[in-house]
Amino acid sequence: MYKLLFVLVTLSLSSYAQSIKWVEVQKGVWKASVGKPESYDLLKSVGIPPAITALQKLPESGFPLPKTDIIARFYDGKTYLQFPLEKEEQLYGFGLNFQTIHQRGRIMRLHVDHYGNTDNGRTHAPTPFYVSSKGYGVFINSARYLDVYAGSNVRQDSKHPPEVQDRNTDKNWTAKPYSDVVEVLVPAQGVEIYIFAGPTPIDAVRRFNLFNGGGCLPPRWGLGFTQRVNRLYTASDVMNEANEFEAKGYPLDFIGLEPGWQSKSYPCTFEWDKTRFPNPPQFVKEMADRHIRLNLWTNPYISPQASIYPAILPYTASHTVWVGAIPDFTLPKARQIFFSKFEQEHIKIGISGYKIDEVDGYDSYLFPDVTTFPSGRSAEQIRQTYGLLVQKYSTDVFRKYNRRTYGLVRGSNAGGVSFPYVIYNDNYSHQDFITALINSGFAGVLWTPEVRASKTSEEWLRRMQTVCFSPMAMINAWSSSTKPWSFPEVANEVKEIAQLRMQMMPYWYTEFAKYHFEGTPPFRAINLEEGFNTIPEKEKLNKSLEENPYEEAVTREIKDQYMAGEYLMVAPFFTGQTSRKVILPKGNWYDFYTGNCVGNGEIITIEANLNKIPVFVKDGGIVPMMPPMLHAPASGQKVDIEIRHYGQKNALARLYDDDGETFDYEKGLYTWRTIKVMRQTDGQWKGSISEPEQGKPNTIANISWKFMTK
Ligand code: GAL
Repeated sequence: MYKLLFVLVTLSLSSYAQSIKWVEVQKGVWKASVGKPESYDLLKSVGIPPAITALQKLPESGFPLPKTDIIARFYDGKTYLQFPLEKEEQLYGFGLNFQTIHQRGRIMRLHVDHYGNTDNGRTHAPTPFYVSSKGYGVFINSARYLDVYAGSNVRQDSKHPPEVQDRNTDKNWTAKPYSDVVEVLVPAQGVEIYIFAGPTPIDAVRRFNLFNGGGCLPPRWGLGFTQRVNRLYTASDVMNEANEFEAKGYPLDFIGLEPGWQSKSYPCTFEWDKTRFPNPPQFVKEMADRHIRLNLWTNPYISPQASIYPAILPYTASHTVWVGAIPDFTLPKARQIFFSKFEQEHIKIGISGYKIDEVDGYDSYLFPDVTTFPSGRSAEQIRQTYGLLVQKYSTDVFRKYNRRTYGLVRGSNAGGVSFPYVIYNDNYSHQDFITALINSGFAGVLWTPEVRASKTSEEWLRRMQTVCFSPMAMINAWSSSTKPWSFPEVANEVKEIAQLRMQMMPYWYTEFAKYHFEGTPPFRAINLEEGFNTIPEKEKLNKSLEENPYEEAVTREIKDQYMAGEYLMVAPFFTGQTSRKVILPKGNWYDFYTGNCVGNGEIITIEANLNKIPVFVKDGGIVPMMPPMLHAPASGQKVDIEIRHYGQKNALARLYDDDGETFDYEKGLYTWRTIKVMRQTDGQWKGSISEPEQGKPNTIANISWKFMTK
């Protein structure tokens, strides 16, 4: 009898669709467990609780999809998921892609990896989350490699089947017939699925971010300028470099030490090299006295010569990376041994953060999928979550000291939205870097288009301009030894853009606070803007049948414009361009530098000006600025603020303030000050700002107003 029941249950699980039960777990967030979900998944790997109060503030919105059109089937020990797709619906997300923004029609395997020049799902953060232009989001909570068919298949049982076309006679025959379905293959017997309501696409993104704890709030100094020095620099080289920055008047908040700070690297000892850094505590202190923090490069692979090696060995994997042991960070003992080393020898003496390298991929160096781990988790699951684990447990050490950190990492995933880490890579295509910046906003991660070296001064300046309008303003000179002034022809312009980065710190800081408290990504696609036309045009086909019998028209995507905070749109120039088109969403837009109106809901052409990165401001936009200081204001330091207003509209904006360095904001020690700009009856503008709150940090000295639009 029981046997029969068992056979029947297994049969139903093995091939039939399961009716899905949705539970609203947070306002506007529904969860369903289909089949038998695994005990380890993206959310459980790091266990960040949702930002419940913030989620409650988002608008009311019902379940955004027809429930009966979401289907889970079980077959061959795997879970087959199906989601509906309407005509003209655009899809965004599926991780940190570098070449594409519109994902409809694409096939990918979401797999943590070093981006290797094709958007096939292998990337540094293959977040299994997508957003629809219809205003909802879908997240598959699995730490497996997921196969995604994002509107690329036509099912036999399709409700809206495309017409069958005859290629012999039909000029419009297409190799990609219309598909009304997104399908995902999960190589496990069950999975958790989450649906995020809108009503708008950005609301769905906000819900996803807040469900993951909200975005990170970097320390103020994290938003200043950072230089990563040559990998073999000594303590005195680093000191000299800091002095040079100061003498030449270039801003600098933290310096990144590359592999040579360690006695051995690839694999690593995590110990200071005593020849290059004879007295680390004194060195860190001397740098701190100059207002410069230090960030340490490392990868997590342990050298047999590391002092922690014997103790950690039982908690490491069957395979090695560069012959170093691979810690199983899902085991508390492994984490304790590993991160205590960081705490005792780096963090305690004042190290401000890490660059955690090589937790992403290129199969030839990362652990292969045949690796086994002492926890019993598969290499696949560890690979999908390794970046999350290192971010979580390193941040926890800083939290113990009530010091915020801000660093770099090369692998992440869903679940890591709140971690104070920025992704980077070695690919170095300026265009792809900007596409990644745009997509980072859909993937719950931060990305920096880092600057290393350049062939020309034009390229150098163009890259510096975009990195200063990104989450981390950084030169990574680990191999090139470049400095901001390396191209004398543009050294002043580089200084100006670095200074502008500093001047805009109150703006950046407020926009990151919105990321943390409200879930709005500070850097994101203009596709998330209201009033932006989301249906991309198709480019003409130019190849012959013989060359590619299945070629399809390419979608013309907007990959060279992005939003920076609530009010700014950046439209950078790449090397060699002398003019470019800018698409302005509906509403008046103003030039950031002059305050002049440039257009409304139209496409404009602008001429290149090497000295300036084109930036446009929304009508009624507010940009709070501070003086171009060389370092971020320290905790308790007060600075003067100039509040700039753009356009013809009255403005109602907010300015965020807290101590800038600790986690005390989590205890309520912060303020949002209200900024109002109103036109008076005599036609003059007048600005006002609410008083600072008693007992809360107040970093503002004097306030002045600048009404940019005449
Ligand atoms: C690379 C990393 C570079 C640099 C280098 C040091 O993998 O992407 O930014 O840190 O390692 O060896």
